[in-house]
Amino acid sequence: MNKDIEKILIDQSGLEEITTRLAAEIDRDYKDTGRPLVMLCILKGSVMFYVDLIKKINRPVEMEFMKVSSYGAGTTSTGCINLHLDLKRDDYEKLDIVIVEDIVDSGRTLSMLTALFRDRRVHSVRTCTMLDKPERREVDFTPDYKGMEIPDEFVVGYGLDYNEYYRDLPYVGILKPEVYRRNQ
Ligand code: IMP
Ligand code: MG
Repeated sequence: MNKDIEKILIDQSGLEEITTRLAAEIDRDYKDTGRPLVMLCILKGSVMFYVDLIKKINRPVEMEFMKVSSYGAGTTSTGCINLHLDLKRDDYEKLDIVIVEDIVDSGRTLSMLTALFRDRRVHSVRTCTMLDKPERREVDFTPDYKGMEIPDEFVVGYGLDYNEYYRDLPYVGILKPEVYRRNQ
């Protein structure tokens, strides 16, 4: 285990179970729609979860990517969302979109993104998150597909970062608080 990790919260087999279950739920809900299903990866945090998830979905999907940021440096949200890479299509009204996120915290990122696609008149938009920290919610938001609820701890690994590090860890772990205290 990485020396900066206090505890492994979800190991590789736990992650495997989460992606298998969520892929089955998505397959069930979007079976025979006759419309394109766009699996929209929110860069960079959800990349690992996203690729494992879409490999397990049996129906055809389209891969799309967006890049947003709500966090500045460190472990606290700035409360403002920047759109760095947008999804531009000319067939929004035909699309079912599932936005794939690593973690829901205040809820601002996903509520802003769902509102954005509703404005663009997509056929439907839902959200799928690997992790959820419901205690931290600042806006009223509930994900449609959820891997696991976790307590209010700062977690890294399997895509999730602290100042861009730890994304490559093959598990989700709680970061030792002394690691971010050191940098504050
Ligand atoms: P929200 O807009 O406050 O819901 O923030 C969601 C974003 O905050 C996620 O996409 C992550 O990038 C980041 N985030 C929230 N909690 C954590 C955490 O524990 N570890 C790493 N990133 C986090
Ligand atoms: Mg993120």
